[in-house]
Amino acid sequence: MTSGVHKAPAAVARRVEALRAEIVRHDRLYYVEAKPEITDLEYDALMRELQELEARYPELVTPDSPTQRVGGEPLKEFATVVHRVPMLSIENTYNEAELREFDARIRRALEGESPQYVVELKIDGVAISLRYENRVLACAATRGDGVRGDDVTQNVRKIRSVPLRLAADAPETLEVRGEVFMRNAELERLNRLREAAGEEPFRNPRNTTAGTLKLLDPCLVAQRRLEIFVYEITPGSGAEPATHREVLQCLAKWGLPVNPNHSFCADIEEVIGVCDMWREKRHGLGYETDGMVIKVDSLAQRRRLGATSKSPRWIIAYKFPAEIARTRLLDIKVQVGKSGALTPVAEMAPVKLAGSVVKRATLHNFEELAKKDLRIGDMVEIQKAGEIIPQVLRAIPEQRPADTVPFAVPTACPACGGQVVKDADGVFIRCLNMGCPAQGRERLEHFAGRKAMDIAGLGPAIIGQLVNKGLVRDPADLYALTQEQVAALDRMAEKSAANLVAAIEASKQRPLSRLLFALGIRHVGSHTAELIAMRFGTMDALMAASEEELQQVEEVGGIVAASVKSFFENPRNREMIARLRAAGVCMTESRPDADTGPKPLAGRTFVVTGTLARYSRDEIHDRIRQLGGRAATSVSKKTDYVIAGENAGSKLDKARALGVTVLTEDEFEALAGAGL
Ligand code: IVH
Repeated sequence: MTSGVHKAPAAVARRVEALRAEIVRHDRLYYVEAKPEITDLEYDALMRELQELEARYPELVTPDSPTQRVGGEPLKEFATVVHRVPMLSIENTYNEAELREFDARIRRALEGESPQYVVELKIDGVAISLRYENRVLACAATRGDGVRGDDVTQNVRKIRSVPLRLAADAPETLEVRGEVFMRNAELERLNRLREAAGEEPFRNPRNTTAGTLKLLDPCLVAQRRLEIFVYEITPGSGAEPATHREVLQCLAKWGLPVNPNHSFCADIEEVIGVCDMWREKRHGLGYETDGMVIKVDSLAQRRRLGATSKSPRWIIAYKFPAEIARTRLLDIKVQVGKSGALTPVAEMAPVKLAGSVVKRATLHNFEELAKKDLRIGDMVEIQKAGEIIPQVLRAIPEQRPADTVPFAVPTACPACGGQVVKDADGVFIRCLNMGCPAQGRERLEHFAGRKAMDIAGLGPAIIGQLVNKGLVRDPADLYALTQEQVAALDRMAEKSAANLVAAIEASKQRPLSRLLFALGIRHVGSHTAELIAMRFGTMDALMAASEEELQQVEEVGGIVAASVKSFFENPRNREMIARLRAAGVCMTESRPDADTGPKPLAGRTFVVTGTLARYSRDEIHDRIRQLGGRAATSVSKKTDYVIAGENAGSKLDKARALGVTVLTEDEFEALAGAGL
């Protein structure tokens, strides 16, 4: 065990350098060249080794180390950056005739010279400017109003395809512009997680990208996989190749990701041909594009063409029209999600739209449905524009059949007939019945999940069978299952039946925090569940708590407190908890092994900030809990102590501002040993 900071031996310093070079090489292979050589697991192992060495020898940490993408403290607000060269926008065109006019304008201005063009995809993301100083990423800023943007450097550091250091042959200072974006598959991954947590899904990748870059906590940014394509060198910023072709070559050579889908065209007819080709092909890219960007290749010609106050004259965007299709609305089904939200879904006659056949579309909520007055039997217009999920735009009034009626908003749950209520914000209607069969399946999957009760072998297929056979309606029923019942399920051997029954039995020992998360209470994620369980200690104390008492818990505000309270007020939920208790499911927080030993930190709340010498973040949190204390992640008036390590950031400032006692790691150790 190390204590304090040691001087790093030369061999360690060499290993750290070698690891960094190796990680940077793999980032480049993955993001710039799309030719990965190692698995994610192998990559993670390299990163972990580097993190461990840097934690032990903090003097080896450099701002461009790949580890600096990890961690970081939340900001209060973003600083403003004044762009050295304003970030102009691009003029839009919508048809070929306008493209030819653009070409004619350029030829006139160039007095008969023939321009060559480069055609690129117009990535539907968020424009960003990156400044490298001494080849190290120094500043990343959003476009803002074109003159002033937000300094989002610490969020952009989390984007793995943004190199923190440029190749050795790059200019010392360089400013480039590009587009931060999110792949469709990543949006879908995030939405699966959000739905599991009872949160509204994100609607499209662009808005999600913009929202992510504006998050004040970089750790949250790191959880969403953003990417970047770089497409311009800012004029006068350190490198002046003669053509855009060379610009793209240089950017890639220096380690910046360039979109491979660009074409060099000798004239405007070729440009139009390339745009036509991408009209359909773009749907197979896996990320959203809203058009093509046509640029004059010669940088000397660009300078002669100049700019208007709004946009440069050497560039134009060719926007694909939003694709719209018409089809018949056959039915409106009402779906019930895990958290009970009732969602109207349009079922339509299949129609081809933007590269796929569409026959279903979410109508989001009943207010939106009423506003559009969509009726079963209507001809409707559907669109996919910057949205992966098709949208029903409107019903066509002239084509409405005579016998249609407005859609009736459900007054009871369509699956269980249970009571429904409108959310406080007035948009969603929810079924309150924990025993609702439609919610049941998804709740059971969540209950058995790894971060919840962790019941190995209880996956969707088994849950489906158990529910269909009427053996299980809610989580408490799991504990009444016999081995014979389980063995009688399809594709279930004797041995796996025994394993599943044993896994269910073992889950009874999970602490209250896991159970609380497993119950799937809206707005209660695993971290919040831990904080609540830690504060109340037992299910009885928690069920008796008032909203005010719940709000005393670190990080629990009005919305969470109200959600918890209303969950425990529901008679069906109370009855289910009684059955869980009767089955022997643990209803207390402290595990038997953690119960023993002194509790010198009892009743105190700690927040850890910066890098500690002896512990990782998880380790110190475990130690605090083991000694009876609470570990929270944000500093407030309720915080008793802040433990500050190396490079502590805004949490330390906040602690000082609030007058919270700040401890060094050694002081914490002393208190932990001696008691408070
Ligand atoms: S060049 C003078 N190239 O589209 C602007 N922009 O609607 C130079 N965009 O603000 C930008 N893909 O955020 C350029 N291949 C591409 C692009 C691209 C997307 C964005 C950019 C710009 C917006 C204008």
